[in-house]
Amino acid sequence: MSLLSIDAVDRLRDAFRSIGYLTDPVLEAIGEQGQRGLGRNTTVAASCALDARENWGKGIAEAAQDPLSAAIRLWLLRQPVPVAALSALPMEDLVAAGIVAVDGDLALGEVDIRPYGSPDDGADGWVVSDPTPGLDRVITRTRPDYVLGVSPASTSLAQMTSRRRVGSALDLGCGCGVQSLHLARHAGRVIATDVNPRALEMAELTLALSEAGTADSSDDGPAAASAGHPVELRQGSLFEPFCGPPAERFDLIVSNPPYVMSPPRPAAERLTYREAGFEGDGLVEAVVRGVPDHLAEGGTAQILANWAVLGDQPWQERLAGWVAGRGCDLWVVERESLDVHEYIETWLTDAGLDGSPCWHDRYTEWLGYFARLGITGVSMGWLTLTDAGRSQPDLSFESWPWAIQQPVGPAIGQHREGVDDA
Ligand SMILES: C[S@@+](CC[C@H](N)C(=O)[O-])C[C@H]1O[C@@H](n2cnc3c(N)ncnc32)[C@H](O)[C@@H]1O
Repeated sequence: MSLLSIDAVDRLRDAFRSIGYLTDPVLEAIGEQGQRGLGRNTTVAASCALDARENWGKGIAEAAQDPLSAAIRLWLLRQPVPVAALSALPMEDLVAAGIVAVDGDLALGEVDIRPYGSPDDGADGWVVSDPTPGLDRVITRTRPDYVLGVSPASTSLAQMTSRRRVGSALDLGCGCGVQSLHLARHAGRVIATDVNPRALEMAELTLALSEAGTADSSDDGPAAASAGHPVELRQGSLFEPFCGPPAERFDLIVSNPPYVMSPPRPAAERLTYREAGFEGDGLVEAVVRGVPDHLAEGGTAQILANWAVLGDQPWQERLAGWVAGRGCDLWVVERESLDVHEYIETWLTDAGLDGSPCWHDRYTEWLGYFARLGITGVSMGWLTLTDAGRSQPDLSFESWPWAIQQPVGPAIGQHREGVDDA
């Protein structure tokens, strides 16, 4: 994929608006069952809803009558669509950029673009990513530089993020750019980084299409990254792009980092969106250890993470060690804990290895890797670090496996204020 020009982005956004390729009309077109089916990676219910909408019995050419259906089929359902049905879109631009491929009379989405709307803070627009893998149980190999779209983890991080107004925010490991879409609404300046150049390209398109960081949306409170301050994108690993001197600091850091603890693989085979080549939970440790050098006074970092449980050692002890002597408060909420088998099966499935001949070998390799590192379980949850300027930082650890009312960000913000008042 190459980037669209500013004019082409404007044309595409106008076309999406004119055909109604927006969150509500799309949800209405695919219906509730279609929406829930897509959540389970199956397109059948959505496809049936579109069939009914188009009176599909008339034949595939009739899709040309319904450009919204065609766009949904192209991107959400990954179906070939008659080129004629897409005449409202700037097809020349999309094909030249490698976003859509054309074969004869049919077009296929090479890159996913879908409407995004958050009822929590009103962030909206379109998110650009690689197509969803494993749709309708079709197993395809995931490319190492695959760019993940909005996942349940992305939504969890967005919902736990405090939306108080801040001067500067960092989106570490931005992927498709979804966290920055939210941050641009309440941070004066946003920097988004990723080690994967394809992710930065897609994030740039997400943000440009969604006019994030270019529109003044301050009418509902927070100061948006105003005109002239678009989200800045930087390539690099972890805090490398901010090392200075002097090191750059932020009022808010958010990260949903690639925390999967897989056995080592050559970089060319690693799935960059989920694994970073560190041993065990070394990536999460590196993020946590790096945060104090990049938080502004009073600043907060909110990180979604997995961390290893080593035999009988309380995990709280290890995590406390990561911030010892660094002057930051640490609040950890463990949301889930898995035994090593559950963990390995989850991530082998995520890699599309269900039913693959290498499933057994990869499974036992992973078990051996965990045994060598002494990992007996994995916890998942939220880490909040705050530069509260205390001589004795506040360390707090809890397990909360129960349901929570979303968005939990305001409650997390209130908890912070409570600690500050104590
Ligand atoms: C799980 S995805 C999260 C994407 C997005 N922030 C979200 O919430 O959906 C993790 C992202 O971190 C990026 N990444 C991997 N290794 C990295 C590193 N060493 N430094 C910075 N980013 C990295 C990946 O390319 C990927 O885009």
